[in-house]
Amino acid sequence: MSLLEIKNINKRFGGLHAVNDVSFSVAEKTIKAVIGPNGAGKTTLFNLISGNIPANSGEVYFNNKPIQGLRPHQIAQYGISRTFQNIKLFPGMSALENVMVGCHPKSKAGFLEGMFRLPSTWKEEKNIRKKAIELLDLLDITDLAHIEATSLAFGQQRAVEFARALASEPTLLLLDEPAAGLNIYETAEVARLITKIQQRGITVLLVEHDMSLVMDISDEIVVLSFGRKIAEDHPAAIQQNKEVIQIYLGDDDA
Ligand SMILES: Nc1ncnc2c1ncn2[C@@H]1O[C@H](COP(=O)(O)OP(=O)(O)OP(=O)(O)O)[C@@H](O)[C@H]1O
Ligand SMILES: [Mg+2]
Repeated sequence: MSLLEIKNINKRFGGLHAVNDVSFSVAEKTIKAVIGPNGAGKTTLFNLISGNIPANSGEVYFNNKPIQGLRPHQIAQYGISRTFQNIKLFPGMSALENVMVGCHPKSKAGFLEGMFRLPSTWKEEKNIRKKAIELLDLLDITDLAHIEATSLAFGQQRAVEFARALASEPTLLLLDEPAAGLNIYETAEVARLITKIQQRGITVLLVEHDMSLVMDISDEIVVLSFGRKIAEDHPAAIQQNKEVIQIYLGDDDA
């Protein structure tokens, strides 16, 4: 069954057709990657799915329900969570507190009320804290809980970001370039964590430039070039695809 289905979606910025009639679906509990050169429209596509920008036309279905036109917080409540191309952790807060903030959308009382330990919210704050600790544990960063998040190494910040994105209990996780700026060891750890997240039954849609990461962990790959989908296949087939090789190597003889 497909969890996410994108049908003929279009986004124009003035005269630029950033996402041009793109359609594909993401099967439940799989990892799908979106690749393509800089400016291909990958982040724009994510912004369309998460409701951060409106589409000019086309449809997005999540669990067979249309979600285009909904506000980002509504889409988050449906079960889609995302991380951003540039890590956006809250400064002045520990790793644990950053994850606790992510628990907020489904909690009844506000996070700040919880922080002030009002009697009515005390139990809830305790539950949020427990859940955040479990998520840090899932991502193998329990020992970083009380360290200021923005002072951590980039690879560790990525793991905190994953934990925060998982705190809203999504069924679909959108990751925009999770390995950007990471060294090979940190990238290998990110690959392991994404696979671990998938094994928890969460579907992952991933934008990434690191081809070995993409080829290692993806079930399927969509290739965008100048806003258009030019290929969609299994990793082994994508590696052999002449058009894909051409756009990456710029080699007419490829
Ligand atoms: N808000 C915007 N206003 C105008 N143009 C935009 C806007 N956002 C993106 N673009 C343009 O749309 C095109 C697609 O951008 P997008 O960020 O989606 O590319 P990308 O595939 O994510 O690239 P990268 O790999 O560099 O992150 C680019 O030409 C970009 O300059
Ligand atoms: Mg991008």
